[in-house]
Amino acid sequence: MRIERQRYTERFGSVRINDVQKVLELDSGRKVDLPLKEAIAVSKVEEAVIKDFEEKMAIIIPIKNEKLKLFEGVISGVPHDCLIIVVSNSERKQVDRFRMERDTLSQFCHFTQRQALIIHQKDQILAEALAQADYADMLDKDGKVKDGKSEGMIIGMLMAALSQKKYIGFVDADNYFPGAVWEYIKSYAAGFSMAKSPYAMVRILWRYKPKMSGEVYFNKWGRVSETTNKCLNSLISIKSGFETDIVKTGNAGEHAMSMKLAQILPYASGYAVEPQELISIFEEFGGALPMTYQTAAKHGVEIFQIESRNPHFHEEKGLFHLQDMLLQGLASIYHSPLCEPQTKQRIIKELLAQEALKPGEKPVKPHINSAPSKEKIRNFAKFMADRLDSYSALEKIS
Ligand code: GDP
Ligand code: CO
Repeated sequence: MRIERQRYTERFGSVRINDVQKVLELDSGRKVDLPLKEAIAVSKVEEAVIKDFEEKMAIIIPIKNEKLKLFEGVISGVPHDCLIIVVSNSERKQVDRFRMERDTLSQFCHFTQRQALIIHQKDQILAEALAQADYADMLDKDGKVKDGKSEGMIIGMLMAALSQKKYIGFVDADNYFPGAVWEYIKSYAAGFSMAKSPYAMVRILWRYKPKMSGEVYFNKWGRVSETTNKCLNSLISIKSGFETDIVKTGNAGEHAMSMKLAQILPYASGYAVEPQELISIFEEFGGALPMTYQTAAKHGVEIFQIESRNPHFHEEKGLFHLQDMLLQGLASIYHSPLCEPQTKQRIIKELLAQEALKPGEKPVKPHINSAPSKEKIRNFAKFMADRLDSYSALEKIS
C-alpha cells in the first residue's frame, strides 16, 4: 500500500493528531531494495509489514439484525490473518438471526480454514464473566448485558485480549462493499506501521459516502460528521488558543487501536462512543487535566486519520437515527470537563438547528463504561478462558 506521509501533526499536550493521509495505491507492488524516490512525500508499506500487523489484530464486528448477505460480504473482506470477533445483539426469538450469523461464519471459517469467535451480547455466561470483571454496570436489571454498540465493542475488546491480540479494529456489519472492509483493515495496519508510540489509534475518513436517492450521489461527507468535527475542533481551538480543523474523523465507526491504548480508555454507551474516545484522549493526555497514565503520557498518544479510496456505503437508518447519533456524540463533548461555555453554546445551537433538541433542553450526559483495564481483563479471563472454545466458529460446524 502507498499512503501519504504525515505532513502535518497537531499537538495537544501529549496527543499527536495527524492530519488526513490519503491512500495513493491499494497495492504497491513487490518489495524493492532500491531507495524510494518518492519517500519524502509517500510511505510504501510493504505487504509483509501489513501482514505482520494483521496477524496481531482482531477485527471486531458488532452486529444487530443486519441483512445476512451484508454480513457475509463483510467477513469475506477481512484479511485472512486477522482474527474475526463477532459480537451480535441480533434477534433470537421469532427468527434466530444469531444462529444464522453463526452458521454463516462457521461455514466461512470451515472453507477458508481460519479462526473466528462469535458471541451473543445477551449470553448468560458472558454476563457472569462481566460481573466477575467488575463490569456490573454494563448489565441491566435482568442481569443481561445492556443493548448498545459500545457495549458490544467492549465485549469484543475483552475477547480480543483473551486471544492475546495486540491490536483491535472495528468494522460495521452493514458495509455494502467487502473491498472497502479490506481497505479499512489494510489502512489500520498501515497506520500502526507508521506509529512511533505503542499507544496508537487509526480512524478512517470516508472520501465519499454515497446516498441512494434514485441515482447514486457521491457526496463528500455527512452532516453529522461535519458537525461533530466542528465541535471537537472548537474545544481544542479554545483550549489551545489556536484555531484548528485537525479533527476530521469524530464519528469514525471504522477505527482501530493498539490494545495498550484500548485498555486505558473509557467508552460511552450508544452512539457517543466514537467522539467520546477522542474526548477521553484529550482529557487524559491533553495536559489541561491531571494525568493518570504516566507511561502512556510519556510515549504520547498518536492518532492517524486515513482517507480510504473505496466509498463508504452502508445501510441508511433514517433521519431519527442520524439525529440520535448527533445528539449523543455532541452530548459527550458537552459534558466533558474540557468543554467551555463557548463550545457548549455552539453545541446547543447546532442541535437546535438540526432539530435534535427542543428549545430549553440540554443534552443528557451519556453513560460511560470504564476502561477494560488489565485487572478487568484478568478477571474476565479467569472466568472465560476455559470456555473460549465454545465461542469459536469452527467448533460449531455440524
Ligand atoms: P452507523 O453506521 O453509525 O449509522 O450505525 P449502525 O446502526 O449502522 O451501527 C453500527 C454497527 O453496530 C452495525 O454493524 C450495527 O449492526 C451494530 N449495532 C448496532 N446496535 C448494536 C448493539 O446493540 N449491539 C451490537 N453488538 N451491535 C450493534
Ligand atoms: Co451503519
